[in-house]
Amino acid sequence: MKLKDQVAIVTGAARGNGFAICRALASEGCNVVLTDICEDIATVPYKLATKAELDGATKEVAAMGVKAVAITCDVRSDAAVKAMTAEVMKAFGKIDIAVANAGITSLIPVVDMDEATWDDTLDTHLKGTFLICHHVVPHMITAHSGKVVAISSVGGQRGFGMGSHYCAAKHGILGFVKSLAMEVAEHNVNVNAVCPGTVWTPMMQGLAAHFGMDQEEAKQQFCEGHLFKDREITPKDIANAVLWLCLPESRCVTGNFIPVDSGWTAAAG
Ligand SMILES: NC(=O)c1ccc[n+]([C@@H]2O[C@H](COP(=O)([O-])OP(=O)(O)OC[C@H]3O[C@@H](n4cnc5c(N)ncnc54)[C@H](O)[C@@H]3O)[C@@H](O)[C@H]2O)c1
Repeated sequence: MKLKDQVAIVTGAARGNGFAICRALASEGCNVVLTDICEDIATVPYKLATKAELDGATKEVAAMGVKAVAITCDVRSDAAVKAMTAEVMKAFGKIDIAVANAGITSLIPVVDMDEATWDDTLDTHLKGTFLICHHVVPHMITAHSGKVVAISSVGGQRGFGMGSHYCAAKHGILGFVKSLAMEVAEHNVNVNAVCPGTVWTPMMQGLAAHFGMDQEEAKQQFCEGHLFKDREITPKDIANAVLWLCLPESRCVTGNFIPVDSGWTAAAG
């Protein structure tokens, strides 16, 4: 149990990659605060997680023998992230790990995109990552210890037509991670990112449904760039990379990212 008695905050934790990350951290004895928006965003073309999903995920993590707490928190809101961080500090007295995972997506050409769609996407991914770090990292600095992991994407390394907002945010996360890593290395805080390829989570399922695509055909299409044709990238694959970045084994890794993309970006050159 390499993370026994540590405390992690995971955003967007009710389902998909976030939930898998919570389970991976709990498997090493880490107590987990699961946070999620638990309501829909009007510019997102599929349903976001519900409070019932967040509570169900929290119960499953608690059943692994660690403390698990659910807190509703919209990462776009400074006040909400501030209040959530204060609640965690009150309950646990420390925060060892922060995983900025909450995310949304949509597919819209730049010429058709409205301001609200752009703002919601940038605010959730990029401002959300900033806000989590802004409020949590001071506690890590005080403790002279901490691990921050942000979830970027293949879309943080290359462009996708109709994904300018998503790619801008995910590229931004990598720049943010590198910069924050430089600020906090002297305080023994590691800051890294994980860049997933396509993972068939409710996000991708919802996007496919929105465009009326057959789920299997859509999966094939969205996974076309993966080099391994005999395997799917699962939320657990993403969670394993996040977990490693939270373990003592990665102590000399900071300001960088792990692609878990089945070779997609290697092929893209
Ligand atoms: N699924 C993929 O193919 C893929 C690929 C690359 C990167 N990612 C990234 O992985 C992360 C998790 O995505 P997923 O695929 O598990 O999607 P998902 O939709 O299954 O899960 C995302 C979670 O984030 C929550 N959320 C959305 N907006 C929020 C907000 N403003 N505040 C708090 N919570 C919010 C949702 O309710 C949901 O529970 C995202 O950052 C996503 O961009 C996913």
